Amino acid sequence: MTFVLAHVSDPHLAPLPQPRLIELIGKRATGYVNWRRKRQAIHQAEVLARIVADLKAQRPDHIAVTGDLVNLALPREYQTARAWLDALGAPADVTLVPGNHDAYVRSGVAASLTHWGEFMRGDEGAAVSGFPFLRRRGPLALIGVSTSVPSLPLFAIGRVGAHQLQRLEKILDDSAREGLYRVVLIHHPPTSKPSHYLKRLTDGARLRDVLARHGAELVIHGHNHRRQTVWLDGPAGCIPAIGVPSASEAPPGEHDPAGYNLYRIDGARDAWRCEVITRGMTNDGVVELDKTVLKSR
Ligand SMILES: [Fe+2]
Repeated sequence: MTFVLAHVSDPHLAPLPQPRLIELIGKRATGYVNWRRKRQAIHQAEVLARIVADLKAQRPDHIAVTGDLVNLALPREYQTARAWLDALGAPADVTLVPGNHDAYVRSGVAASLTHWGEFMRGDEGAAVSGFPFLRRRGPLALIGVSTSVPSLPLFAIGRVGAHQLQRLEKILDDSAREGLYRVVLIHHPPTSKPSHYLKRLTDGARLRDVLARHGAELVIHGHNHRRQTVWLDGPAGCIPAIGVPSASEAPPGEHDPAGYNLYRIDGARDAWRCEVITRGMTNDGVVELDKTVLKSR
């Protein structure tokens, strides 16, 4: 039976609530200027609503959200984002990992766990803060990795950290033994161009090393606001790492216009088939842009 996973990312929920003056100390000050000058024209609630309506009409079995729900980590943004998550689906049907904007200031890490913890919890009912976590859905092992760390103004970096990397090795091994199709959910892409130095995953090389030794069937991410596929080394062939645009970027957009992916997964251990359907916003509404079967390399 085909399992359909939808992947949406970086909604950067708008409108931004009006910050109080005292809330604009430090990194939020530059972020607020950036929002007013540029980002508020890019990320539009109406665009996001059309993307979500189209996604729900596809009736996926599960929805993955790879972070950057908020913009400046203002306390009210987390409540708004919780309401958005609830409208997307029940915590059992929606799996979330946080992004760098969700930890825009230090308090954001705790706020995201408080408000969104149910969407970031493993099946075993572990502590809410337990990353990486594992959820089994149909033939899938959904493995949530957090790269959400506060950083200096103008930086948008992420870090997995030694503790998560160690736990990730075991989760990848265990879920491979169970014969599951392993999907790693992560906000930052595992590889980045030199020009993305300020927004890179600082321990991306260590993550890639774990994936090369322990394997995964698919890595899905956001952060770059672009459709992209990069093939990573794996123990038996390469692993696709697939990024989606922001779910709220109005066309034509600075990056790719808003969109999302559907992954239609069939098969069983060592004989998986994954068809990727890319849907995105155009002047004619949300349409299918591409359909391709992932070929193992
Ligand atoms: Fe990001």
